[in-house]
Amino acid sequence: MAIQAFLVASFVFSWLASTSNGVTTFSSLQQTLIVTASPHPGQVMKAGEDKITVTWSLNTSLQTGIDSTYKTVKIKLCYSPISQKDRGWRKTVDILAKDKTCQHKMGAQPYTNASNNSLTLIVQRDVPTATYFIRVYACNSADEEVAYGQTTDTKKGSNLFEVRAISGRHTSLDIASVCFSTFSVVSLFGFFFIEKRKAKALQTK
Ligand SMILES: *[C@@H]1O[C@H](CO)[C@@H](O)[C@H](O)[C@H]1NC(C)=O
Ligand SMILES: *[C@@H]1O[C@H](CO)[C@@H](O)[C@H](O)[C@H]1NC(C)=O
Repeated sequence: MAIQAFLVASFVFSWLASTSNGVTTFSSLQQTLIVTASPHPGQVMKAGEDKITVTWSLNTSLQTGIDSTYKTVKIKLCYSPISQKDRGWRKTVDILAKDKTCQHKMGAQPYTNASNNSLTLIVQRDVPTATYFIRVYACNSADEEVAYGQTTDTKKGSNLFEVRAISGRHTSLDIASVCFSTFSVVSLFGFFFIEKRKAKALQTK
């Protein structure tokens, strides 16, 4: 009897653990947020430099109280399908804990049902060159995603923008080439100056 109770209890416990932990699927989320972002379609944003303004609000044509469990919103930069092709490490998986689409978190803030929520965020330096859109997740008090909104359509094909990474190597190459050209200009003037003086010296002789 005690053993049976224990077995039932442990079965129930493991079932609860498996349903409440890490198995939220993207397809189970409702699209209730309307999200817009400042980049124009095709605009190129520089990582570590350019800022993106994200505005989000609840779609007011939905039933009231649909957002009663929303506590926070998380703003994420997500790879478009073009930039996921042949790259397993950016793959879309329906189980959100395994999904690699929206790896780059831009920011978070408490959820409000105001119509003018807006946040300006810098594109982090570690964001690689790719084509992106922005998705905002609404999370409940257990920090589980319950709803979302995004700047693109369901096929993730429209209204995409680019991020261009600035790698350290390029920056130092740029600095090196600037130094080199400054050096060449200075030495060119130096040569002219010396040659002129030589010519003058010859003339006066
Ligand atoms: C808001 O929700 C309604 C009802 O589901 C839907 O028809 C409409 O397209 C949504 N609006 C936006 C801008 O997503
Ligand atoms: C949104 O509107 C409210 C009320 O008009 C105002 O108090 C608040 O500062 C606004 N927030 C933003 C982010 O513009």
